[in-house]
Amino acid sequence: MDAAERKVWITGSGRCGECHEKMFDEWETSAHAQSVSSPLYKTAVASAKDATCERCHAPLAQVAPRDIVVTEGVTCDVCHTMREIKPSVDGGSWQLAVDDMVKYGPRCDLKDHYFHRMGCSPEHKEAELCGSCHWWEPKGVPVFTEYADWKAGWAAKEGYPCQSCHMPKDKAALATGSPVRTGVPHHGLLGKAKDLRATALALEMKLDAQGALAVTLTNKLAGHAVPAGLPERRIVVRARLEDGSGTETWHDERALGRTLVDANNAEVPFWKAVRVASDTRIAPRGSQSMTFTVPMAQAGSVEVDVVYRGLSDAIAKQLGVTDVEEQPMTKASIKLGGGYPKTAKSGKK
Ligand code: HEC
Ligand code: HEC
Ligand code: HEC
Ligand code: HEC
Ligand code: HEC
Repeated sequence: MDAAERKVWITGSGRCGECHEKMFDEWETSAHAQSVSSPLYKTAVASAKDATCERCHAPLAQVAPRDIVVTEGVTCDVCHTMREIKPSVDGGSWQLAVDDMVKYGPRCDLKDHYFHRMGCSPEHKEAELCGSCHWWEPKGVPVFTEYADWKAGWAAKEGYPCQSCHMPKDKAALATGSPVRTGVPHHGLLGKAKDLRATALALEMKLDAQGALAVTLTNKLAGHAVPAGLPERRIVVRARLEDGSGTETWHDERALGRTLVDANNAEVPFWKAVRVASDTRIAPRGSQSMTFTVPMAQAGSVEVDVVYRGLSDAIAKQLGVTDVEEQPMTKASIKLGGGYPKTAKSGKK
């Protein structure tokens, strides 16, 4: 059939949302809904000058090049038409079943509806669906490794797919007017309260009388290394000293993550990189430790804040990005004075 004559059954998310309001509201504020419109993605594509980025960021462009739905990126009709899903080190492959009005989902006992028929897909409960986009090592450079990390780690062995953490379940109606069911997945992908980042890490620290501050971060929850995703993501550990009145008198910081470099060993974004220079991500159920030297005082406190940062400082500078996303992950505090060593843990006062 001629591409122009082919009838493609794809629908904008707004139409799906008329019946599936819960999923729409959750998806709308997720990163998936911004996968072609995010300012960072636009900046990156302009720099990479690569036409193949859309394969994962706007997969519907493969079947409907000019359709308005394409601009919604990783939208409802991407995931709910995906078949023959195969993750691979070169970026996965899949077919989009858009030649018929069937929407594939995890249940196999739903009655067809006039708007669309129901496709039975146990694959929607499996990590491979996510892993088809979330694993890519072009020319041997590890870019997205969530699926590979997961597969090699405890979460795969113990039977927890991506969905078990990223799509927590509610009791709800799947569609307006349908019965309330259990096990309905949240579509925000960072937890019901967008709290996955805030629960991922445990922090422990110890301060001795000479001011050596040892900080250990443990990846207690994520089924893959942290930070995950884009190699340019960072976990920043910020230590500061406050005097008795709460005024900051000293600070220092360390960043954890992967550094990719070009042939001249300069830190570059992934599309210009030829190899990994260093990797200080925290492995699943693994730890990373570091030491700060604190100029000791008689009173006040040492505060440690751990934050997620969307880009490393060097890459943000190269790309001219000034408003880098930040989100708090965990923190702890130690009061000065009295006996040493002193210890503290996140989640405790
Ligand atoms: C068709 C490709 C594709 C599939 C399938 C896919 N993703 Fe994504 N995912 C993306 C892209 C592209 C982004 C980046 C969007 C952006 O930030 O611009 C992303 C971003 C994310 C993020 C980052 C969220 C944030 O707020 O920073 C998480 C978490 C995530 N995906 C989890 C999943 C899980 C879990 C699945 C399986 C249920 C999945 N993805 C399936 C392409 C995909
Ligand atoms: C990144 C891929 C992805 C996107 C985008 C996505 N979904 Fe889903 N959706 C899934 C997966 C995976 C499941 C099943 C998860 C599970 O049960 O663990 C699911 C389940 C569902 C279900 C069935 C729930 C149930 O309990 O049986 C409906 C309905 C649904 N999605 C609608 C939507 C709508 C509407 C949109 C757009 C607003 C959307 N989805 C966008 C991946 C996606
Ligand atoms: C006119 C209403 C309506 C619209 C519009 C609609 N759906 Fe549905 N959908 C339903 C109903 C009804 C169910 C079944 C609910 C039940 O039985 O609990 C359903 C179920 C589903 C399921 C579950 C399938 C399974 O077997 O697990 C998915 C996935 C889904 N819809 C996706 C979509 C997507 C994607 C769109 C937009 C392209 C969409 N729907 C638009 C009414 C609608
Ligand atoms: C056992 C729970 C668990 C499993 C299983 C899991 N994740 Fe995660 N994931 C997390 C937690 C917690 C975070 C938050 C920490 C972070 O941002 O790095 C996270 C973060 C992410 C992010 C980064 C979001 C961002 O920008 O910070 C992506 C992308 C992601 N996961 C994808 C996946 C994919 C794909 C799979 C399956 C192959 C998966 N995850 C399996 C718990 C899990
Ligand atoms: C194999 C699938 C795949 C391909 C191909 C791909 N990406 Fe992505 N991209 C992803 C996934 C998955 C994420 C989510 C990771 C995260 O949130 O940290 C992502 C996230 C991003 C982000 C972060 C967006 C944001 O708003 O935070 C940028 C920038 C990006 N990709 C640029 C590109 C560029 C440029 C290309 C082409 C050279 C490209 N990607 C090709 C899968 C892909």
